[in-house]
Amino acid sequence: MIVKLLRNNGSRFITRQMHSAGTSSKKTSVIRTIGGVVCIGGTTAALAYHWLHRNEVQMAALGSSAKFASVSRYMAEPITSRQVLDANRNDMKSRMEELVMRIQHDFCRSLEAEEHFGKKFFVDRWERKEGGGGITCVLQDGDVFEKAGVNISVVHGNLPKGAIQQMRSRGKQLAEGDLPFFAVGVSAVIHPRNPMIPTIHFNYRYFEVTDSAGQKQWWFGGGTDLTPYYLNESDAKHFHRTLKEACDPHDPAYYPRFKEWCDKYFFIPHRNESRGVGGIFFDDLDGPDAERAFDFVSSCAHSVVPSYLPLVRQHKNDPYGDRHRQWQLLRRGRYVEFNLIYDRGTKFGLYTPGARYESILMSLPLNAKWEYMNVPEKGTEEAAIIEVLQQPKNWLKL
Ligand SMILES: *[C@@H]1O[C@H](CO)[C@@H](O)[C@H](O)[C@H]1NC(C)=O
Ligand SMILES: *[C@@H]1O[C@H](CO)[C@@H](O)[C@H](O)[C@H]1NC(C)=O
Ligand SMILES: *[C@@H]1O[C@H](CO)[C@@H](O)[C@H](O)[C@H]1NC(C)=O
Repeated sequence: MIVKLLRNNGSRFITRQMHSAGTSSKKTSVIRTIGGVVCIGGTTAALAYHWLHRNEVQMAALGSSAKFASVSRYMAEPITSRQVLDANRNDMKSRMEELVMRIQHDFCRSLEAEEHFGKKFFVDRWERKEGGGGITCVLQDGDVFEKAGVNISVVHGNLPKGAIQQMRSRGKQLAEGDLPFFAVGVSAVIHPRNPMIPTIHFNYRYFEVTDSAGQKQWWFGGGTDLTPYYLNESDAKHFHRTLKEACDPHDPAYYPRFKEWCDKYFFIPHRNESRGVGGIFFDDLDGPDAERAFDFVSSCAHSVVPSYLPLVRQHKNDPYGDRHRQWQLLRRGRYVEFNLIYDRGTKFGLYTPGARYESILMSLPLNAKWEYMNVPEKGTEEAAIIEVLQQPKNWLKL
C-alpha cells in the first residue's frame, strides 16, 4: 500500500491510501469514478422525466457575464423572468421559485466553503422549449466532495398522459382533457470523498395543476435523508434532531409521521434493509392551508445546512483507508438497487414509451460494486451499520 500524505491541516495529517502497486490504475479509476449522483426521490425523478423526455430540454450554459442584479444571492438568473416574479410576488409559484433558488445558493456556497482548495460549483442554466428550465450545479472531483449535485427546476406545460395516470393511481381527482401544470423543486445528492461523511439527499417541491374548468389543485412534497457508510450515533441523532426542530413548530405530529414515511420509502425489501438512517419524507401535502404548508416546507429546506454541515466539518479530515473506500463502493451499490428496482420515479420513467432513458439513468453512479455474499464479520464497524439498517431506529427515543 502506498499511503499518500495529502496535507497538514493545522492539527493533523490526513492520509489517504491510494492503491497497491499491482493494480494501481484499476483501483484508482474505481476510486475516481464512484461519485455519480446516485438517487433522486421518486417524484423528482418522475418530474425529471417530464422535463427531460424526448430531448425537450435544451442545455445552455450561462456565461459568467450574467447581468442579473441578484446573481450574488442565487447561483444564476432565475428561470422565470425577474419581471414576472416581481409582478406576481404573492403567488405561491413565485415564492417557491425564490425559495428553491435561495436554498440552492446557500447550500452550494456552504459546501464550497468546506473545500480545501477552493473548488467551486459548475453552474449550468438550461431552458426548456415548452416552458421553464432549471439550474444544475455540480461540484466534481473536489477534495472534500467527490460529486455534489444541487439542482432546481421550474417547469410548466401540459401533463403527459403517463403522469396523469400515475397521479390518478395516487388518488388525485383529475379532469379529462389538457391539464396545465407548474412544478418547481430543488433536489440534491452529495457524495463526499471521505467514507466517514454520510451521503445526503434532499428534495423539496411544489406542484400545481389546473383542469379545463379552472379548478386548481396544489401540493408540496419533499424530504431529507442521510446514508452513512459507517455508523456514528451522535451524527444520526444530530441529523434527526435538527429535522425534528424544523418540523415541530408547524405540527408536532409531522416529525414522527414523516420519519416513518421516510423509513418506509427508502427501504430495500429484498435485502430487508433500509437505504440509510432515514430522515423525513412526505408527499401530497396540501394542508392545513397553502401558507402554512409553504412555511413548513421552507423550515425543512432551511434545516438542510445545519443538519449536514456539522457532519462534514467533523469528519472531512478523518483518516481512512482502502478498506473503508471499498465498503463505500459496496454501499453505493445498494443505492443503485433501490433506484432501479423500487424508486417510483425511475420505474415510471423507464416504463413510459419514448422515455429518454439516458436522462433517467443519469442519476446512477459511474461505478458501484457488488460482491457475492459480502457479509461483514460480526463486531466490525461494517456489521454495525448493517444492523442499524435492518432495524430502523428511533433516534430521538420518542
Ligand atoms: C441534477 O441535474 C443533472 C443534469 O440535469 C443530473 O445529471 C443530476 O442527476 C441531477 N441531480 C439531482 C440530485 O437531481
Ligand atoms: C462521532 O462523531 C463525533 C463528531 O461528529 C465524534 O466526536 C465521535 O467521536 C464520533 N463517534 C464515533 C463512535 O466515531
Ligand atoms: C427483516 O428484518 C426484521 C428486523 O430485523 C425482522 O424482524 C424480519 O423477520 C426480517 N424479515 C425477513 C423476511 O427476513
